[in-house]
Amino acid sequence: NNHLVIMAGGVGSRFWPMSTEERPKQFIDVLGVGRTLLQMTRDRFKGICPAENVWVVTNKRYASLVKEQLPDIPESNILQEPCRRNTAPCIAYVSWRIKVQDPMANIVVTPSDHVVTDVVEFQRVVGQCLKFTQETDAIVTLGMKPNRPETGYGYIQADLSTNSLRNKELFRVDQFREKPDLATAKQYIQENNYFWNAGIFIWRVETIVNALRMYAPRINRIFERLQDKLGTPEEQQIIDDIYGDCDNISIDYAVMEKAEEIFVCPADFGWSDLGTWGALRLQSERDVYGNALIGENIKMFDSHNCMVHVTQGVKTVVQGLDGYIVAEHDGKLLICKLSEEQRIKQFSE
Ligand code: GDD
Ligand code: MG
Repeated sequence: NNHLVIMAGGVGSRFWPMSTEERPKQFIDVLGVGRTLLQMTRDRFKGICPAENVWVVTNKRYASLVKEQLPDIPESNILQEPCRRNTAPCIAYVSWRIKVQDPMANIVVTPSDHVVTDVVEFQRVVGQCLKFTQETDAIVTLGMKPNRPETGYGYIQADLSTNSLRNKELFRVDQFREKPDLATAKQYIQENNYFWNAGIFIWRVETIVNALRMYAPRINRIFERLQDKLGTPEEQQIIDDIYGDCDNISIDYAVMEKAEEIFVCPADFGWSDLGTWGALRLQSERDVYGNALIGENIKMFDSHNCMVHVTQGVKTVVQGLDGYIVAEHDGKLLICKLSEEQRIKQFSE
């Protein structure tokens, strides 16, 4: 049975003021299309996974937002973390929870803050990978063709000479490297066998639990020990008590960098991680001057290559700006050079 896990507990701090602690970007209609990033993530898997097998892992404080935005999934499938411990504990928790209910589960894990433009191709690729993991004890990743030495992503080195016999689109992974430094990333993108990790993982529940047991034993033990309580009325109280004991580490460092049986499916479905305002600008339609405008009431004069995002119809006039972010949300206003956007996290604190 196919299950979908949506990780929705991040804060998206570089997207201030639109993304805040109270309402991170995954719960916002970032693109101005009438659906939030979380809703678009769910929509992308319709047909692959029924509502009763959709799981969302998030922080306690966002559980009501998830309920409101995904009313068709069972409330008991919204797993609530009492504190933030990054994605390894998140995946360990939900994997053990699913295993208790469906030991044969075949799972896709996805972030909640990405954009995919070719959903038909996306579904085809994910379907292929699910078919593969159904029959193989493997961790499958999706590889995106890199076009810049981005240091915020994981890099996958594929062995392009050994594609899997079961599926010609899948290749063995020689090495997984999370967030390399700039010099290393520059080397990687000169080769044709390095891919960005899209952050989407496909595996059978047994496979990931075994990998956690092997590579993240401290985290795994916490959930393995309480498997009898998962899915019972006691679950939440126990999770509240023990979750903080988990190491704070991402699945990429905890498991992916160490695991042996990883495969990659190089794919192209118009993927973008909406991590920053600059990424949103590149993802959005731009006018002839390179300005991306999201909002109802924006007028631009003598300005180029800007990202302007205003909500609630705030009337906005911009003159003479080159390469700037202008973003307004809920009484907060940011005007910042696009080239300095990595500092927004500090600015907003
Ligand atoms: N439930 C939960 N709890 N979700 C979390 C937590 C947490 O503590 N921390 C992060 N998330 C969610 C985020 O909301 C996001 O949807 C997803 O997990 C990934 O977390 P990010 O913090 O955005 O990871 P990243 O972008 O630095 O790196 C990952 O994604 C890249 C592609 O976008 C890695 O997998 C990289 O290898 C990958 O290239
Ligand atoms: Mg991300």
